[in-house]
Amino acid sequence: MENKAANWLVSDMGKIVVLRMGHRAVRDKRITTHVALTARGLGADGILICRVNDTKITCSVDRVVEQWGGKFSIGFCPSWKTAITQWLGRGGEVIHLTMYGLPLLEVLEQIRKSEKDKLVVVGAEKVPGEVYELATHNVSVSNQPISEVSALGVFLDRYFGGKELSKEFEGHKILILPQKAGKKTIP
Ligand SMILES: C[S@@+](CC[C@H](N)C(=O)[O-])C[C@H]1O[C@@H](n2cnc3c(N)ncnc32)[C@H](O)[C@@H]1O
Repeated sequence: MENKAANWLVSDMGKIVVLRMGHRAVRDKRITTHVALTARGLGADGILICRVNDTKITCSVDRVVEQWGGKFSIGFCPSWKTAITQWLGRGGEVIHLTMYGLPLLEVLEQIRKSEKDKLVVVGAEKVPGEVYELATHNVSVSNQPISEVSALGVFLDRYFGGKELSKEFEGHKILILPQKAGKKTIP
């Protein structure tokens, strides 16, 4: 696990990075951790968490990466606007998940065809209107209110076309041997 809290702007966090906006330290700790775990488990390269530098989240995700392997970056940034404009400035594109956006299935092919690095934005509380204007795509995963965790999960699954479900995580300490019943792990 690389904590790029200090230098995320100049570092290469990867091709698919999640931007978690509006994180409130105590209230959102659990859900932001779930956003991070979903990002990692379903194929993203890292997560940027905006507003509060919450080391408890880093520790939880850190422990998962140590045990379950793979590369995953986590960074904190004080300003979502700086994160988004820096990302666009580096030639990347911004996919904002919102129930008000265009249906995922309508824009999916266009998004998949583009080779640009992707910053996938999910909110917590009300998302400022400026995000809708700055985003390359405003994408809805149904036009019903769901949660940021499920919106991100569905988006990543459609984006990777299911391949992320069998992704191998290098350097793991634990590996699950899938069973019809019961639990088996190596070691
Ligand atoms: C609990 S919602 C709060 C949204 C907030 N009320 C607003 O108006 O921006 C938190 C986040 O979940 C995601 N979300 C919820 N429903 C969604 C949907 N149907 N499609 C895509 N993203 C969704 C969005 O990223 C949203 O910012």
